[in-house]
Amino acid sequence: MLSKVKLHNFRNHKLREIIGNSPCNIILGRNGSGKTSILESISLLCAGRNLRGATYSEMLLNPMINFGHSQIEDEIKADTWQVKYFFESQNKNTLSNEIEMEYTKEQINKIITLNGKRIKNISELKGLCSFIYLTPKNEMIFACATSERRSFFDRMIHGIFPSHASLLSQYNHHIKSRLQTLKTSHDPLWLDAIENSLARLAAEITLNRGRFIRLMQYSYNMILSGSTEVDYIKKLFSEIPFIHLELKSQIFNECESFSEYYRDLKHMHDATFSISDDIMKFLDDTLISRIQEKYKSARKEDVLLKKSTFGSHKEDFIVFLSDERFDIKYCSVGEQKLCTMVVLLTYANLIHNLNMEDSQFFSNVILLLDDVISRLDQRYQTILLDALYRLGVQSWITAPQLEILNHASTITSLLNIITL
Ligand SMILES: Nc1ncnc2c1ncn2[C@@H]1O[C@H](COP(=O)(O)OP(=O)(O)OP(=O)(O)O)[C@@H](O)[C@H]1O
Ligand SMILES: [Mg+2]
Repeated sequence: MLSKVKLHNFRNHKLREIIGNSPCNIILGRNGSGKTSILESISLLCAGRNLRGATYSEMLLNPMINFGHSQIEDEIKADTWQVKYFFESQNKNTLSNEIEMEYTKEQINKIITLNGKRIKNISELKGLCSFIYLTPKNEMIFACATSERRSFFDRMIHGIFPSHASLLSQYNHHIKSRLQTLKTSHDPLWLDAIENSLARLAAEITLNRGRFIRLMQYSYNMILSGSTEVDYIKKLFSEIPFIHLELKSQIFNECESFSEYYRDLKHMHDATFSISDDIMKFLDDTLISRIQEKYKSARKEDVLLKKSTFGSHKEDFIVFLSDERFDIKYCSVGEQKLCTMVVLLTYANLIHNLNMEDSQFFSNVILLLDDVISRLDQRYQTILLDALYRLGVQSWITAPQLEILNHASTITSLLNIITL
């Protein structure tokens, strides 16, 4: 559990300490008080794009960026920011850890230390924690661009299969270099080699995605069938139609046996609760060469269109409502937000259960929910906070204010409220 964050010269926070001593931490404060900036600082612990996609120098405290209400007194722009994170051990699988990040102006990178020891980059922290974030910009995951939706799901997958992020980054590197080669030299031997690597990576990525859907369906089913621990989420799930998650993939079509394994799951009762399924058996040479052949036969079209028309980067996660296969993107804004929360809660329940049931597995997922709860109606807010508190996955939630906190209830008394 992330138990404390200390900020120095980070955005509008000259000096700030935030204690996160609860599974569910709510940061309240007026507009511009620095709530999102706190989540942004937490999101730096994860490799890849941070919450706002900002550069480190943009995060340096700058007194000129002052909407007239901030507490910044100095006139001079800071030239170093620091963030310290304290992780408290929860069980035998985790250690207490202290991480420090420091960025000095004009540096390209930041200095990171783990328990006082310098580490080269953030990927060395892998296994420590991973984040799923929802912000007003990406919360409409069912209506946004495919690439955003894919990366939202891939982040979740990374929380379960730690190698997923590295597979994706290698894949992206190869796909760029293939396109570059197609545009320039068109060297067939070189293209064959790149496409062979791409085919291997694509197969693994698709298998991870398919396995993830299988696990999500299991978790969802577990909630619907009302296992005791998750009764309170069932309350929420029973109010919205049945959700159906699918992967749209060209690569599945190349792997009949795997697509069978995956399709079975449409009847969710069959899903087994295991991350250690022997899926590598699907990764045989015939499959790799079939996928490779697909890349090869797309060369001509790709040159003409100047883009890659086949592969993992074309896959999409689709969510349907009920068995009528009604695409969620046509639902109301509030309904879509609820469905997004259902996906997140299903995921949190999955992580919680994998942590409990699978001795080989440990994942420390933290949910960062920026300003996404305040616009739901009060009843849904209560059910959601209740579910988030009990799920065993830590969440950090921001809102300018939450009306429900003014009404005493069991759940509101359990939350950690931080007012800026
Ligand atoms: N580098 C910076 N230095 C100083 N202040 C900054 C910097 N970048 C942004 N700010 C300011 O910091 C303040 C906090 O921004 P932040 O987005 O964290 O606020 P917030 O509490 O999430 O507000 P809202 O409720 O409107 O979302 C804002 O006034 C913003 O203009
Ligand atoms: Mg904000």
